[in-house]
Amino acid sequence: MAPLGLCWPDEVDVFSVPHSRMKTLVDTYKNLITSTDFNDGQNLQVLLTNLQNVFSEFKAHEHIENSLIMKRLKIKLRAASVTNAAVCNCHNDNRLSEMLHLVLDGYKLTQKTKTERQNYGDRLKKALEDFTKKFIPHMEEEEMVFQPMLMQYFSYDELKELKAKVIEQHDMS
Ligand code: FEO
Repeated sequence: MAPLGLCWPDEVDVFSVPHSRMKTLVDTYKNLITSTDFNDGQNLQVLLTNLQNVFSEFKAHEHIENSLIMKRLKIKLRAASVTNAAVCNCHNDNRLSEMLHLVLDGYKLTQKTKTERQNYGDRLKKALEDFTKKFIPHMEEEEMVFQPMLMQYFSYDELKELKAKVIEQHDMS
């Protein structure tokens, strides 16, 4: 569904369905991180496997947006002689790769001391909090800023086709 105050039909809304999935994943890791006992190596292992899957899915989502949406939006803007820095920079930082590296680092600790696992847990919690604080507004920006731009520069049929491709490429099973 379009964000409150903004209105477009679901069949041309390219962000809401995948973002609903991403927000569910955020809720899942928030619950997991609070219930994980970092003293317990096996418990940590379960958390890491879940986080690795989540951040791999976030990366796939970003790749789909870059290759299907942003690339085509940039072409449309260029054709209309419009420059928009937000479109060019929206996925430019490495936070997803950094989070994946941090998660992968954790596997080395499952056999180590409780103190090392506790310290790692504190670092991971802080990193996840920081990541979430940026990721949720990032998705809102895509829904509230980029979707209206898509409505402006793409035809209705182009957007219907684009949404179908976006959904097809996300594995939301
Ligand atoms: Fe839809 Fe760029 O996250």
